[in-house]
Amino acid sequence: MKTLIVANWKLNPSTLKEAKVLFDAIKKDAKGRQVVICPPFIYLPLLKKPVLNLLNRLTLGAQNVSVEEKGPFTGEISALQLKDLRVEYVIIGHSERRKYFSETDEMVNKKIKNALNAGLKIIFCIGENAGEDKNTILEKQIINGLKDIPSDNVKDLTIAYEPVWAISSGDGRGNNCSVSQTLSSVLLIKKIISNLYNRELADNIKILYGGSVNSSNSAEYIKNGQVDGLLIGGASLDAKEFIKIVKSVV
Ligand code: PGA
Repeated sequence: MKTLIVANWKLNPSTLKEAKVLFDAIKKDAKGRQVVICPPFIYLPLLKKPVLNLLNRLTLGAQNVSVEEKGPFTGEISALQLKDLRVEYVIIGHSERRKYFSETDEMVNKKIKNALNAGLKIIFCIGENAGEDKNTILEKQIINGLKDIPSDNVKDLTIAYEPVWAISSGDGRGNNCSVSQTLSSVLLIKKIISNLYNRELADNIKILYGGSVNSSNSAEYIKNGQVDGLLIGGASLDAKEFIKIVKSVV
């Protein structure tokens, strides 16, 4: 299984021109690797065309999706609309959505169900705040987020462990989680999934780490943290740095 590298551009960059420059720079070197770019919604259809022309194409993901399927919900973007654009992945439950946009576990659960129904691949983010009990929080977020979702539907789920205290302020150089703490979180997540579903599913589910990943720490997470990939914010906005990360892990 190839390492999955996901770039979360968040609310960047400010112009389409910059988005294209960044995307093109990454595109060249990401060939043949499993890289997902999650730009702001409005850039998705505009970056789509060159993606489809590539043999080893970059994959596109969205950073969020509506809790609603369709109807009178001004400003929302649905899972079906993303699917129609041939967007493959969607990030759900990112801590910044939970923190700044009051997203609850119940909303996360509804979004996951909608995204599954639409056939999108899900990157389900979980993580504790500083000072919170990790076991309690991860268990609560997983159990509530996956409520009433049968095991067959979670087989292809990707979980991103992102301790909130480790997320950078935008430069990818914050207080990253140690590799040993990451490893213990991976084992904890597998245990929770195993209790909720079964051991086989827990062993097969993909787990990413995110939080101040940069080219000097990326390889260690894959080598000794037992994660299947990385979710990268700040460092994904610098094409050279991002490519260094991609090359360090595969
Ligand atoms: P960061 O962001 O790499 O800038 O810490 C990661 C994320 O929030 O997904």
